[in-house]
Order: sequence, then structure tokens, then C-alpha cells
Amino acid sequence: MSVILVHGSVETKTDPPYIQGLETAALVAQQEISCGRDRLSAVEKAVNELENNPLYNAGLGSVLNRDGYVEVDGAIMDGVTGKFGAVAAMREVRHAVSVARKVLEESRHVVLAGSGATLFAREQGFPADNCITDVQLASWETAINLKRSGKEVEFSAFTGLIKESDTVGCVLLDDQGGLAAASSTGGSFLKFPGRVGDTPYIGGGIYASSHCAVACTGRGEAFISTLTAKFVEEEIKSGLHPQEAATKAIQRLYQLTGEYGGILVVDRLGRAAAVHNCDSFPVAMIRNGCIEQVPLVQLSSSRPDTPQPQT
Ligand code: GLY
Repeated sequence: MSVILVHGSVETKTDPPYIQGLETAALVAQQEISCGRDRLSAVEKAVNELENNPLYNAGLGSVLNRDGYVEVDGAIMDGVTGKFGAVAAMREVRHAVSVARKVLEESRHVVLAGSGATLFAREQGFPADNCITDVQLASWETAINLKRSGKEVEFSAFTGLIKESDTVGCVLLDDQGGLAAASSTGGSFLKFPGRVGDTPYIGGGIYASSHCAVACTGRGEAFISTLTAKFVEEEIKSGLHPQEAATKAIQRLYQLTGEYGGILVVDRLGRAAAVHNCDSFPVAMIRNGCIEQVPLVQLSSSRPDTPQPQT
């Protein structure tokens, strides 16, 4: 059995182009598997597809930071070997997930950040790319002009002023029972230069083991401080169904931080879940080569006016 899930982040639109983009990415992963390539290639290429699609906040089309440029985070984890690679706050490179894989496979390190990550990417042959689109530049200019004129700036912190998208991710169970996860993001709109989200934090925004593969999206700071991806894995390991584990994790995230987000997960039995407490969370799934509906859970009831203490 093989199961591939991809997400386009919470608060991303669910219009046909956004869903088609996700289905295309899942099909790319399926093709990798069908051609005999390994699970890391499958999750990497699915995320590459989304990094090339300017509809999503990853690679080309990433949101701009406070100073008007793009810094990307990316990560990849192999549930079979437990190996992890990541890049953080990296400039001028489109495919953060592929550089993360090179960190995992070609370096003695686990995470590279900032100018060192860019230097490593260049040495590995990745071309220069500022990842800025006209849409995102216009978003940034509008926000900055509003701020300068002292006006309230209305935008999604995950996603930017106009374009609605955050992190992208892929989780996978392959025919041999191996699990893997990968994520890529432009992070949060108008973030301080050097800010790093949850994507490159092992156990924060991403995790994979022999039990499950997990990819998160939402306010990175909240996912880091609650180690939400690892929490999901622990709950599945202790016997919960992925849907119960992800639901518990989103409720806990809200109780602890008052924040919102989404979790995509597949376990070693091929049970999949996508749970969120936002307005939208577009996802796509391919099971045994066929596109299927993802069992999506929206926790609207987990939005009390005041965060509740943890029980
Ligand atoms: N979830 C992506 C970020 O906060 O950077």
C-alpha cells in the first residue's frame, strides 16, 4: 500500500487551481514511486512542484519579510533512518526542500541557516532566485505604505496581504512501509529578517518515524514551542488513530498558545488525517495510485474566545 498526502497550508484558498496544484504535486510523488525512486525523492519532488507554483507560499511566490525580500525554510525527514535535514532563513534559493535533502545526505550537519545555507546551496549547484512575484511585491508595497501612513494593516500573518497561503508539505507511506515527510515555506508575511518558523524544527513543524509522518502549517512560533509534530507522533505511538492524535494536537495547540494551524499525517497502517482550526486547509491524497478524498476535520469548536488552560 502507498499513501501520499500534500497540503497547501491553512488559510489557502480551495478554488480549483489550488486543489489542482496539490493534486499535481501528489501525482508527481506517485510518479517518483512508480519509477522506483525512493520515498525521499517522492516527498521532495511533490514539494518542489508546489515551490514552483506561485499560488503557494513556498519557493517562487513566497511572502516578503519586513525589509522586502524572501527568506525560506525547508525540511525533510526519513522515518526509516530517522535522518533529518533542514535549512532556515535562506535567501535567493527556490527549492528549500532540496537543499535540506542535500544537508541530510551530503553534509555532516543537520540544519544550515542564513548566509551559510545559501553558500551551501550554491556549492551544491542551486541557482540564484529571489523567489519574488509581482503579486507578493504588490502585497508588500501595499502593507508598507499603509503602515507608513499610520493605517491599520489587515493581513493574514501566515499568508500575506493578498495571497492566502502558508507552508506546503507532503507526507508519505511507501509500498515497503517506509514513511517520510517534507515541508517548505516562505514563512510569515513581514517577519523580521532572520525569523525562523516551525518548518525546520524537528518535532515542531515536521516529524517522521516508523509510526507516522507529520507535516504542520500555521503560526510557526506556536508549533515550535509546543513541539506539536512530535506530540502527534507520540500519541499515535501510544495507540491513537491519526485523526484522534491530530485533533488532540490542534486542541492542545490552541489551549497552550491561542493559535491556529493544520496538521497532515499518515501512519504506518496507511491511516490518514488532515485536521485544522482555520477557515480552510486544502489537501490532496493519492492512495494506491488513485486520488481519494482526504478525511478533513475542521475544529471550529476549538475556537473559544479565550484560550483555555491545559488540562
Ligand atoms: N508555518 C510556517 C511558519 O510559521 O513559518
